[in-house]
Amino acid sequence: MQTHEIRERFTAHFVKSGHTEVPSASLILDDPTLLFVNAGMVPFKPYFLGQQTPPFPNGTATSIQKCVRTLDIEEVGITTRHNTFFQMAGNFSFGQYFKKGAITYAWCLLTGSLEEGGYGLDPERLWVTCYLDDDEAADIWHHHIGVPKERIQRLGMADNYWSMGVPGPCGPCSEIYYDRGPEYGAEGGPIADDNRYMEIWNLVFMQNERGEGSGKGDFEILGPLPKKNIDTGLGIERVACILQGVDNVYETDLLRPVIDVAAELSGADYGSDHDRDVKFRVIADHSRTGMMLILDGVTPGNEGRGYILRRLLRRIIRSARLLGATGPTMEQFMSTIMDTMTPSFPEIKKNRERILKTAVNEETAFLKTLESGTELFDHAAAETRAQDRKTISGERAFALHDTYGFPIDLTLEMAREQGLEVDTEGFEKLMAEQKARAKADNKAKKHGHQDLSVFREFVDEHPTEFVGYENLSSESTIVGLVHNGQTITEAHPGDEVDVIVDLSPMYAESGGQLGDRGFFRYGGIEFPINDVQKIAKKVWVHKTRIPDNAQLELGAQVETVVDEAWRHAARQAHSATHLIHGALRQVLGPTAVQAGSMNKPGYLRFDFNYTEQLSPEQLAQIEDITNAVVDADYQVNTIETSLEEAKAMGAMALFGENYGDIVRVVEIGGAFSRELCGGTHVGHSSQIGPVAVLGESSVGSGVRRIEAFSGLDSFRYLSKERALAEGLAAHFKTPSNQLPERIAQLTAKLKAAEKHIAELHRQQLSSNISNFVDQAQVVNGVKVIAEQLPAGTKAGDLRTLAADIRGRCGEGAAVVVLAAEDENAKVPFVIGATKAATQRGIHCGDLVKVFGEYISGRGGGKPDMAQGSGTQAGGLDAGFSAVIEELHNFK
Ligand code: ALA
Repeated sequence: MQTHEIRERFTAHFVKSGHTEVPSASLILDDPTLLFVNAGMVPFKPYFLGQQTPPFPNGTATSIQKCVRTLDIEEVGITTRHNTFFQMAGNFSFGQYFKKGAITYAWCLLTGSLEEGGYGLDPERLWVTCYLDDDEAADIWHHHIGVPKERIQRLGMADNYWSMGVPGPCGPCSEIYYDRGPEYGAEGGPIADDNRYMEIWNLVFMQNERGEGSGKGDFEILGPLPKKNIDTGLGIERVACILQGVDNVYETDLLRPVIDVAAELSGADYGSDHDRDVKFRVIADHSRTGMMLILDGVTPGNEGRGYILRRLLRRIIRSARLLGATGPTMEQFMSTIMDTMTPSFPEIKKNRERILKTAVNEETAFLKTLESGTELFDHAAAETRAQDRKTISGERAFALHDTYGFPIDLTLEMAREQGLEVDTEGFEKLMAEQKARAKADNKAKKHGHQDLSVFREFVDEHPTEFVGYENLSSESTIVGLVHNGQTITEAHPGDEVDVIVDLSPMYAESGGQLGDRGFFRYGGIEFPINDVQKIAKKVWVHKTRIPDNAQLELGAQVETVVDEAWRHAARQAHSATHLIHGALRQVLGPTAVQAGSMNKPGYLRFDFNYTEQLSPEQLAQIEDITNAVVDADYQVNTIETSLEEAKAMGAMALFGENYGDIVRVVEIGGAFSRELCGGTHVGHSSQIGPVAVLGESSVGSGVRRIEAFSGLDSFRYLSKERALAEGLAAHFKTPSNQLPERIAQLTAKLKAAEKHIAELHRQQLSSNISNFVDQAQVVNGVKVIAEQLPAGTKAGDLRTLAADIRGRCGEGAAVVVLAAEDENAKVPFVIGATKAATQRGIHCGDLVKVFGEYISGRGGGKPDMAQGSGTQAGGLDAGFSAVIEELHNFK
């Protein structure tokens, strides 16, 4: 049975019994505690916690969620069942059916016949586990379903108690395993061998909330959730593995074709050597995960999600090389995996080119890195041999890893090829130290997170109603006051408080737009609102500081007022952001996908996926299109509709919205700009005012940023630029449009003049040489030429000159001391001596030290020529005298 059929059967089974089908959310959700969506329940978290009411008619839902787990990346390919990307099929009940329902649904689908729409698994091969004290579940399995007692096993917290690994919903679970037969391992059920008995479905009885803690079993249970829920997860890939009769999840219909391509490209065989097979599986697994991450908007980078993607892509490239591939391979891997995945994820089709480009660019860059890393490796190998050692040091291996992203197994492989070893212990030690540092860092970051549990009670009881699209002020009632993480009933002067009101016209920061500024008016006093943030989708906190002689109390009726000037400029900036996005896509094509944005009154920045620097012409074009759309005075339409309809309209949304949400589409100039957006916008495009693009820059690999001013700030910016141009025009006495030529002309002239002066300088110096030699004094039988040369003479010239003078001194003993102040207020100096002088034991290096002392200088050199540099030109005469004095005393 092909994977997409396994998916279809799952969905049909649950839709038939009234579950609402919910499409997979994006792998990237707006949840600061998660890098990627890693379980089917993640998008439903607020419903489990009771923060939001589930929008499903029967209170039940089913989904097949894209998941990424990259914690055990090193395990991939070694075990038979670990994919970094997988599809988790689940059914969810929010306060509806509980254990009995979940168990029955799962059993019927797994063991139902193929004709009935089931998977047709042999019930005799299924085993289950339950949490230690969960007799209720075990009873249901035995009495209601008929699973014999010996195939029901008990496990503890680490295995049969599920949470997201972070504070949130949790509960005991019951897992279903499939016995793959004696050729896969020992008898005795899942507690004996989890390779032979492969877990396929996890039924979580989500009934509690957990707090902070570490590991799988070590956390505090805070208490029961408002309702008893069900969350389940069936591994589509694992079922495919069983139904397709293959050994492991890397050989199913979705991944096997990539393995075949890898075999073709590398010339290596799959299936004949365990170590080699692991590399094949890494390629297949990571190609898919990398592709799905890029599909959802991740680009390779050096931190967070981008880093994980980079690491996956690099592991593919390295594995292919270790298998024997020499040229680029990424394009073939990506094309193949996109072919196999498109039937389940049709959106891949539209993004094919972008995905290919992103992955191939990373490959090109990494292959270059590999080259420089190889150089460093060769150097390390040569050094090791030169020292008569056989082992490359741990530091070297670590440096290769850290600086060049050179994986240790590649270093090992290359060392082996050269008959060398690597100090892996030393390497591991350095790696562990680095990991510990990173961990400490993360911990520090985590503790920086505010504890938001105090806001929980407001989610259902006091959601904030936003009235700010139409109004800039409202009569509101204070329903919550939070100070230092505690709810309070009264706030006093100086308190920094988070205020929750029932009704607010203030926009809370989201979608890149900063929160509004404004104030509460109460008892004739204005309480400034310095920021507005969303704690949950419907709970907004207004941040204020209580002024002197004022107080604010729960239940107070206040007037909430938006700062009009702020809002006006914020609207302009947000609408301008949409226009820049529209123009960008028109100029660069649809692969320039949004990667983030920020806008605030007067200013915006927009990040997008693009691998090349934009030319000045492209930037000018983007600015021109944007302003033409402003000028066209389009009406800005906002349309409220379902997510599906919005997508059908072609509205662009970066991150997954929740199913069932009514979304807001903002449309400017028809198809020119249609975006899902909750922000505040102008009524007509002309109200944006001028938009001035400031420039573009790179913000990491494959992501670029455009910055622009909007409204009056554009005007101010342009006017400043104009004043600057006018000032320059007046200075250069030329019309401003001729400034570039004028400046180019003058620069050329200046350069020619400088060259001419330098030449004159040299001529003048050489004509002085004979004078210097003629007028030299003789000290103790040594001819001494000690001269301060004109300011601006460079060290290099001093050296040439000193050598020249020395040459003209003939056979006798002579010493030349030259110094000058250069243009950086440094004082370079040179001392040279003839052969006859050095034979008498004169050493220029020693003289440099003597001289240097007088001008705060240092230097050194050989007996016949030495040089240095000082900073105190005032000491030059004394320096010359000191050298002469030194020669006087010379024997
Ligand atoms: N949320 C459960 C899991 O991920 C079903 O295993």
